[in-house]
Amino acid sequence: MSQYHDVYNSWMNDPEGFWGKAGQDIDWIKPADKVFDAKAGVYGRWFVGAKCNTCYNCLDRHVEAGRGDQAAIIYDSPITGAKRTFTYNQLLDEVSTFAAGMESLGIGKGDRVIIYMPMVAQAAIAMLACARIGAVHSVVFGGFAPRELATRIDDARPKLIISASCGIEPGRVIAYKPLLDEAIEIAAHKPANCIVLQRDEVQAELHVGRDFAWDGIMESAREAGKKADCVPVAATDPLYILYTSGTTGEPKGVVRDNGGHMVALNWTMHAVYGIESGEVFWAASDVGWVVGHSYIVYAPLLKGCTTILFEGKPVGTPDAGVFWRVISEHKVAALFTAPTAFRAIKKEDPEGKLLKDYDISCMRTLFLAGERADPDTIQWAERHLQVPVIDHWWQTETAWAIAGNPVGLGALPVKYGSPTVPMPGYKIDVLDDEGNKLPAGELGAICVKLPLPPACLPTLWQNDQRFRDSYLAEFPGYYETADAGYVDEDGYLFIMARTDDIINVAGHRLSTGGMEEVLAEHPDVAECAVVGIADKLKGQVPVGFIVLNAGVERDAAEIEKECVQLVRERIGAVASLRIVMNAIRLPKTRSGKILRGTIAKIADGEQWKMPATIDDPAILDEITDVMQARGLV
Ligand code: COA
Ligand code: AMP
Repeated sequence: MSQYHDVYNSWMNDPEGFWGKAGQDIDWIKPADKVFDAKAGVYGRWFVGAKCNTCYNCLDRHVEAGRGDQAAIIYDSPITGAKRTFTYNQLLDEVSTFAAGMESLGIGKGDRVIIYMPMVAQAAIAMLACARIGAVHSVVFGGFAPRELATRIDDARPKLIISASCGIEPGRVIAYKPLLDEAIEIAAHKPANCIVLQRDEVQAELHVGRDFAWDGIMESAREAGKKADCVPVAATDPLYILYTSGTTGEPKGVVRDNGGHMVALNWTMHAVYGIESGEVFWAASDVGWVVGHSYIVYAPLLKGCTTILFEGKPVGTPDAGVFWRVISEHKVAALFTAPTAFRAIKKEDPEGKLLKDYDISCMRTLFLAGERADPDTIQWAERHLQVPVIDHWWQTETAWAIAGNPVGLGALPVKYGSPTVPMPGYKIDVLDDEGNKLPAGELGAICVKLPLPPACLPTLWQNDQRFRDSYLAEFPGYYETADAGYVDEDGYLFIMARTDDIINVAGHRLSTGGMEEVLAEHPDVAECAVVGIADKLKGQVPVGFIVLNAGVERDAAEIEKECVQLVRERIGAVASLRIVMNAIRLPKTRSGKILRGTIAKIADGEQWKMPATIDDPAILDEITDVMQARGLV
């Protein structure tokens, strides 16, 4: 019997009692005056008055409790062939030494530090070192281009940027330093210093006086015998800012606090993932995404687990058996990844033949999130791995599952296509356009009743107004998730689509509006639309439609190529915009809104209805012809 309903009801009856009790598993320097203060912040704040340190809770307290010799991070990099284990003792030594190095550059509490790094252990060390001294980190995914990095530099205004000489993708080495230099050149704000990890594959050129080598910073701190102590911060102080795609090209700076974040994430390790201290947890994601923040770095370490930092891909590094190799070699108890990773493995090894080479009996559960988990992929994984496959739904904004199937509380029966039920902390209502609650089975906007639980964003970085406008204004009293879906008679949630312009490409959250802004910069483009269309491997991929300026006589194919290149340069390879098509006109409503949803439905071969407000129905035929000519439909 699952305890889920009892636990959920106990939270409903006494939310403060519930989170206050969960907070007892965290070591506080000073306990909270109030578990929740409804008058503080935009919608209230958690653990008000408490003092704490996140790094202390991730490292020092485990060492003090006798876990010093246990592996904390296992760095496994099939792309370079490197492997290295850091025990809790060793990780504490690295983190406190690096934190002292940052202090020697004048970094302290409240200063922002951007981390632009590949999947190396030093990325996690840098994050924890910031947490140790109360600096606010902002990790920027390595696949983003200089301009995206520059936007984040200008918003976060970091004193320091920590980077590496290169990232390594299958078949190519990407020198990061030129990208970083270009971003600093573009940005209006200039960081005082950079620390660069020199990797064997590329030696970065360092600007004298501004840039320092990671190893040099560490050596100086060691020679001086310096290690940084944990700096007490308020539970409500920011731990990090993580930028995520918003409805316009400007990314949103999601703020995470220290206290509530620790309480909620620590609570999830047992309740949601069924994982206990000392076990090995592997989130195959990237530290640049929220999954990496929450489940590569913070939650497993808060719980005293061993976490895996994997620098590789599910296929091609060297083959589709690498996940099974990592699970068996490091005794992984639970794996968390995006469905796209499993679709990639399934495509390469449909029969799961490579599994026969490995003993993965240590693995109890597979967790999927980041995009819709299609039943085909879930069933393939169930069949081959012989473990429960659990879909769960959340967002950068929340840091942990809004809905899931809580393994530690006793899993509920699985319904394919549903991430199961709301977690304690989240009261979900499905609303119509007027904000009325919809009955079971009816599709609407999925909203969370305020207040949001601990760890969810209290605001956007220095922008309470944008936070209110983006998430709270449409449905008063609620947080709008921007996902549409429904709840069935059994209380199971079904997530159907985004209500904004966000698409999910290989588990990466991207804004089509942001790509449109880039295409519109091309001098020959008069108008454009980017839509997400279904893709067997990546879930969705962006496709661009452009209308050329009158009088342009250049070869359209050439312009299309330039557009693809422009998006790669401006946003990054990760945008995956591969097809841009030249159209004569774009279908619009009479008020001038481009009918992106209808274009996507035509491309996906789905049933579609002629929108009543369409300006000129003939344009849909023209667009269909364009797509047909390119083999898209
Ligand atoms: N730095 C630089 N470039 C990067 C990058 C990084 N950290 N991550 C991806 N890219 C590049 C890729 O090399 C690729 O470039 P290309 O167009 O020149 O080939 C491009 O961005 C698109 O990457 P991606 O969408 O990841 O596609 P892929 O074909 O390289 O790999 C998968 C497909 C399914 C194997 C891959 O997406 C994957 O492993 N997904 C796992 C899911 C995941 O980690 N999700 C994160 C949220 S949980
Ligand atoms: P991100 O902020 O990058 O984690 O992306 C969050 C978005 O990804 C959500 O708003 C959903 O649109 C989508 N998403 C995440 N997990 C799931 C899931 N399990 N099922 C369906 N969609 C999901």
